[in-house]
Amino acid sequence: MNVLVLGSGGREHAIAWKIKQSEKCEKLFCMPGNPGTALIATNLAGGVNDFDAIKGAVLDNAIDIVVVGPEDPLVNGLRDKFAADSQLANVLFVGPSQRGAMLEGSKDFAKEFMSRHGIPTASYRSFTSTDIDQADKFLESLQAPYVLKADGLAAGKGVLIPETLEEAKASLREMLGGMFGAAGNTVVIEEFLRGIEVSVFVLTDGKDYLILPEAKDYKRIGVGDKGLNTGGMGAVSPVGFADAQFMEKVEERIIKPTVNGLAADGIDYKGFIFIGLMNCNGDPYVIEYNVRMGDPETEAVMTRIDSDLLSHLEAVAKGELSGEKIVISEEGALTVVCVSGGYPQSYGKGYEIFGSEYLERSSVEDKIKIFHAGTSMKEGKLVTSGGRVLAVTVNGKGIEKSREVVYPEIDKIMYTNKYYRSDIGLDLLKYEK
Ligand SMILES: Nc1ncnc2c1ncn2[C@@H]1O[C@H](COP(=O)(O)OP(=O)(O)O)[C@@H](O)[C@H]1O
Ligand SMILES: [Mg+2]
Repeated sequence: MNVLVLGSGGREHAIAWKIKQSEKCEKLFCMPGNPGTALIATNLAGGVNDFDAIKGAVLDNAIDIVVVGPEDPLVNGLRDKFAADSQLANVLFVGPSQRGAMLEGSKDFAKEFMSRHGIPTASYRSFTSTDIDQADKFLESLQAPYVLKADGLAAGKGVLIPETLEEAKASLREMLGGMFGAAGNTVVIEEFLRGIEVSVFVLTDGKDYLILPEAKDYKRIGVGDKGLNTGGMGAVSPVGFADAQFMEKVEERIIKPTVNGLAADGIDYKGFIFIGLMNCNGDPYVIEYNVRMGDPETEAVMTRIDSDLLSHLEAVAKGELSGEKIVISEEGALTVVCVSGGYPQSYGKGYEIFGSEYLERSSVEDKIKIFHAGTSMKEGKLVTSGGRVLAVTVNGKGIEKSREVVYPEIDKIMYTNKYYRSDIGLDLLKYEK
């Protein structure tokens, strides 16, 4: 099969890397890709929302299957555009329809979906600017801290968790007043859940599903989970506290009703579902759905799949997932993201990355994989081009060992203002058997 992966981050590099290992993979393309994907695939010019460029690439390269990395094109209806185009309707496509993508595109839609299908989640109500008084009353009925979420996509920044009622009421007014643009026209207010978060990943064809390895990500910029939120500074899989008993609850209480709920609602969903969960005293509650894989969790998760991902993706797109079995490695994965100093605020770009002899170490046999996120080529040199620059994954048994391997590898990669978190995985040591 000829495959096109849409996207340009570490997530897409990891997905492409895994697809490349399949015997079914003939030609592999990424749009737009990055210098990392260029090592294993052909990068094509074009953006993930540029339908004309995508259509041209699919037809020119006889693409059999399209795999969408980010949520944006899905929320914008890329799958529906394929379905409506006579030249593209038969191309296999991994990613939900626009309605399915609303699980991520609208927090209110997701919450309604969960309550309709009895899926455990924080209790909530949604408000617009016409019902501020009721929103205040609802806030007064809750315990601090307060969780306020902009309904729409807000680049991962649309959630505020004020500590006091006063701040919550002020934040509510700012959100409804346009602090997050139209994404905040509706605000979801929900009960604060106490627990530890874990991400669960599912591949579904709308009827059956495969459960991918779970992961924990590290969102804050600073050691000890302090400081500003980022796109993600690291990931670990497996997650010790997500043991067999917990995962069984996740499957029965969340995954099955989610997949069945999509079918019952008549929603065409063939793709990934990322379920952000809170483990509250051993019981799982859904924090949010995303309609794509997470970054950098993907850079850990993909390295633990031993079965043929492309075969799974083909089955998903064809609606024939029932015959597929996923095989997950006993070995764990630990990923550390190297970022540009200053990120997630302002940072410099265009710094040459040295140690490139190590950057190509992404063969299957290698226990070290380096996935490119924010890199580009400038005058024949590899340079930094984003906040998150590279994701370094090491596979092995046990977090402590993996940490001993990954950090010396990171030392070999050099660029101006390199920064990374030195504590990835430390909080999970106590859950290891
Ligand atoms: N009900 C909740 N209780 C406690 N923490 C929450 C709750 N909802 C969200 N959070 C915290 O806020 C973060 C962001 O919320 P989320 O719904 O995942 O939005 P997004 O990823 O779109 O910003 C979560 O990862 C979690 O740490
Ligand atoms: Mg989230």
